[in-house]
This record gives sequence, structure tokens and C-alpha cells, in this order.
Amino acid sequence: MGFTIAVDGPAASGKGTISKRLARDLGFGHLDTGRLYRAVGRRMLDGMEPVEAARTLNPEELDDAVLRLPEVAQAASRVATIAEVRAALVDFQRAFAARSGGAVLDGRDIGTVICPDAPAKLFVTARPEIRADRRWRELVAAGLDVSVDSVLADIRARDEQDMNRADAPLRAADDAMVLDTSDMDVETAIAAARRFVDQVRPAS
Ligand code: CDP
Ligand code: CDP
Repeated sequence: MGFTIAVDGPAASGKGTISKRLARDLGFGHLDTGRLYRAVGRRMLDGMEPVEAARTLNPEELDDAVLRLPEVAQAASRVATIAEVRAALVDFQRAFAARSGGAVLDGRDIGTVICPDAPAKLFVTARPEIRADRRWRELVAAGLDVSVDSVLADIRARDEQDMNRADAPLRAADDAMVLDTSDMDVETAIAAARRFVDQVRPAS
């Protein structure tokens, strides 16, 4: 089994950006597990029953730009409270984590539930207003007409729902390194994450 890096944190904390770069620089695979929940949420918005949607998900659906939409993110957070939906997605995530070349997975419960034995766990966070500003800039750059206030409201609502659900709530694993990126630019955050990984990674 390859080396697994678990990266968790709330919306727009920068976990995806960090994970992508760690994977690229280390030659590991990267799985954005939020896409799984977004794809299930999108299917629910199209009228499908969420558990059925999770059980029949196709990997091709995960690349669709529609998954970025705020209403899909909200739907993702709703379906993510359903224990049977989460259970249907476990095997795919664990199989990805076990790939021989090493893997970085980012989400909400990677260090706590999906890969509790991962040797490197990061919990990436930032103040809500900063996260909202970051996500707002991305959505505007993608051509969406949204206000920063609506993005902040969306992020707060998801934080609340994700932290308070019974099954696999959003929280830092006890052995995770907490990285608050509020006052860091992207490169500084990536460098801090890499230093941590290098400390725990066998020198091979
Ligand atoms: O990119 P962002 O952080 O805004 O969201 P995401 O990672 O795409 O996740 C969308 C939603 O999926 C989250 O608000 C969670 O409710 C859910 N999720 C989860 O429950 N567990 C994961 N491992 C990943 C996402
Ligand atoms: O995956 P997650 O939802 O946690 O966030 P992301 O998609 O990685 O990052 C959201 C946005 O914040 C991206 O446009 C990043 O360039 C920006 N950003 C960051 O990720 N880290 C910083 N320290 C500063 C900005």
C-alpha cells in the first residue's frame, strides 16, 4: 500500500489547492472526495433518490463543471448527512487511498473515517469571511453572478450542517496538523503542508 495523505477542512479553506499540489509534486494520485457528494447532490436535484444515486455513481460524472454551482454544494451537504449515502462511497475512496503510487484525498472525514490510519493528516482551515471571499472570486471568475454575502451564507450553512451531523461530522482528527491559512497566500500554505508531510514521510 502506498503512502496516504488525508486532507480535511471546511469549504474554501484551500484544502483542494494544497492537495492538488502535494499530489503533483510527490507524483501521487489525488481524489477530491467532495466531488462524489456533489455528484450525488446533483443527481438528487435531478430527481433521483440519493442512496440510489450514490450506489450507481459513474466516475465520468465527477468532472462536470456544473458540480461547482453553489446550489449543488448545498445539495451535497444535504445528501452527506445520510449514512447510507456515505456508506455507499466508502469503498471507492479506500480503494483510491490504497493505490500503490501514493494518494492524497481531500474532504471532511478522510482523517477520521475513511483513512484513520493515514500517516499524514492535515486539517486546513481559515476564517469564514476569508473563505467566502476566496470562493466568491472563483465563482465570479467562472462567470457566475453571485454576491459575496450569499457565498458567506452558503459556507456558514454548510459548516453548520457538516459539523453537526451524526455520521462522520467535520472535525480535525486528533493526530492531524491544523493549518490555518487565513493569513497565508497559496504558496505559503503549500510550503507549510509540504514541510509537515516531509517530516512524517519515510526518507525514501
Ligand atoms: O469545495 P468545498 O469545500 O466547498 O466543498 P466540497 O469539498 O466539494 O464538499 C461539498 C460537500 O460535500 C461538503 O459541504 C460536505 O457536506 C460534503 N462532503 C462530505 O461530507 N465528506 C467529504 N469527504 C467530502 C465532502
Ligand atoms: O478545496 P477547498 O474548497 O478547501 O478550497 P480551494 O478550492 O482549494 O481554494 C479556494 C480558493 O482559495 C482557490 O481559488 C485558492 O487559490 C484560494 N486560496 C487558497 O486556496 N489558499 C490560500 N492560502 C489563499 C487562497
